[in-house]
Amino acid sequence: MNNPKNSSANILILATGGTIAGTAGAALKRDYRPGQIGIDAFIQQADALGLKARLTGREVAAIGSEDMHPDLWSTLYSACAEAMDDPQVDGVVITHGTDTAEETALLLDLTLPTNKPIVLVGAMRPADAVGSDGMRNFVNAIRVAADGDASGRGVLLVMSDRVISARDARKARTSGTDAFRGFPRDSIASVTPSSLDWFGDPWATDRPARFAFPDKFPTVPILYAYAGMQTDAVDCLMQDGTKGIVLAGFGEGNAPGIIRRRLAEAAESEIVVVRASRVDEGLVDRESEDDESGFIAARGLNPVKARILLQVMLASGINDPALIQQAFDRR
Ligand code: DGL
Repeated sequence: MNNPKNSSANILILATGGTIAGTAGAALKRDYRPGQIGIDAFIQQADALGLKARLTGREVAAIGSEDMHPDLWSTLYSACAEAMDDPQVDGVVITHGTDTAEETALLLDLTLPTNKPIVLVGAMRPADAVGSDGMRNFVNAIRVAADGDASGRGVLLVMSDRVISARDARKARTSGTDAFRGFPRDSIASVTPSSLDWFGDPWATDRPARFAFPDKFPTVPILYAYAGMQTDAVDCLMQDGTKGIVLAGFGEGNAPGIIRRRLAEAAESEIVVVRASRVDEGLVDRESEDDESGFIAARGLNPVKARILLQVMLASGINDPALIQQAFDRR
């Protein structure tokens, strides 16, 4: 529902680039460059629409999110952490490329408290394309970040008039404005520039940060399963310094017997192994073999997000498979 009490909220915009700030130079051109429009110009355009929220911008980067990296994550985390403590800020919106938005969203969700809304937003069409979705998504994101009911739900992602929680959000299409999906939960709210409807109550009101932000991200490669794969696919990931492996397995996190056995050997040598799925949707649950092999089941997290959770836990010094499994099991 609309929440007029927050209609003049102070929202900090952290810009990182992506298609939402991209231009092609011509409305009918296919190729474009992400991260071209400065945040001030963007805010001016949004203000001109008559938004009541007061927007302050900070350009953290101007990249395509395929180039997102731990140093930039660290800068974003610090800016958000400061905003969480700053009484002058009511909410944060992060403009982000869509390619890795789900990873950034989950990382911040795991490492920040839930006392104020943090909303990631992107676009699938550059700003000067016909039917660009950028400004609409942005205005929707402001509306969400300015809403008193948005806090206590962790980090959120706003795309195509939908609000998806960080844990659930995944990019599911390479093109088209309806590129994101939520799994296991789909949208948790519907938003337009003139309406906002939450489908349930906040579930994490005033929750403190669950994990410390990593000083260093441990090496955790993803092993993509394919028919006929051989053990060399695992061996080349087991370099010195590899702390974990996420299997993007068949179906419910399966892999050929020889691969499972090699992964069990890896687990014995203290590399934490998480079984996720290369299939877009569906849970990967624990199997009895996981106990024998020392594996963890990714449950609802896809491989890239399972990797983020595992990295955050390993960086916090947690490498007991039972404790890691608990973190994968919980919402
Ligand atoms: N590669 C891009 C990025 O993630 C542009 C695509 C997008 O933002 O949707 O920044």
